[in-house]
Amino acid sequence: MMNKKVVRKAVIPAAGLGTRFLPATKALPKEMLPIVDIPTVQYIVDEAVKSGIEEVLIITNSNKHCMENHFDKSYELEDRLTASGKMKEVEMINRIANMANIYYVRQKEPRGLGHAILCAKSFIGNEPFAILLGDDVVINKEGDPALRQLINAYKKVNASIVGVQTVAEDQVSKYGIVAPSEYDTSQGRLKKLYDMVEKPRQEDAPSRLAVLGRYVLTPEIFDLLENQTPGAGGEIQLTDAIKRLMTSQAVYSYDFEGTRYDVGDKFGFIKATIDFSLDREDLHDSVAAYIKEIAPGL
Ligand code: UTP
Repeated sequence: MMNKKVVRKAVIPAAGLGTRFLPATKALPKEMLPIVDIPTVQYIVDEAVKSGIEEVLIITNSNKHCMENHFDKSYELEDRLTASGKMKEVEMINRIANMANIYYVRQKEPRGLGHAILCAKSFIGNEPFAILLGDDVVINKEGDPALRQLINAYKKVNASIVGVQTVAEDQVSKYGIVAPSEYDTSQGRLKKLYDMVEKPRQEDAPSRLAVLGRYVLTPEIFDLLENQTPGAGGEIQLTDAIKRLMTSQAVYSYDFEGTRYDVGDKFGFIKATIDFSLDREDLHDSVAAYIKEIAPGL
């Protein structure tokens, strides 16, 4: 009888250097760059909470104090806002401080995503857990958040799940691409995997299903990460450890629903800013009018 465990904890690795977003990321973590007026990491924590996660561990580095401050209580700001009668704002900042139980651990050197996840080992212990990358913001207005979809899939198979979506053929070389088992002929969103390839050339890609920043993994991944040799870029790669996990356990991909924005990339970030502002009641009309005004001249 398999021991079914609930996914209660999530890890948000946020200790990368953010080189694609320099110079903004010289002193400001990319996870704190706002999409309209909300820092990216807040959208990610919100998705985790809406997916049923109770405890969140953010992997940080010495440059990321402002993230901890963002999710903390701010007595001084609260007092000043209260004194000037700005109660709506007080409520807003308090809500952020009470979103979830958030913990922090530092990754001392940026040795790769796999190494960042390994820093979560003692926090996670012996249970399945979720990973959400701050680079990928996913909005699914009509249905469940992306992570909840993965957790539901986990409940069905009791095995590790990587979140994927189909990308254009000429984009495969930017992502980890999964290879569904040829025996899995199901047309559904959940597919058993036999391989994963990091950034393949277009002609070598086993599919167009790209891994997009959402995972539910079993704790056995930590043993593998502990002795994982550095891979691409000299970094400890999570993909390499998941590939090894496949040799001892089933690993599935789940093609999640929702619009995904690569906010670690400048163009992805700009798209998110435009879409999110058009979706806001207070901004829609002025942003739409401005876009129409400049569009003829583009
Ligand atoms: P990325 O490679 O997208 O992040 O890693 P990066 O290194 O910050 O970005 P660029 O490429 O230099 O612009 C994916 C995720 O893994 C985290 C990052 O913070 C990001 O959320 N990460 C990466 C770590 O936490 N530690 C690392 O050593 C590397």
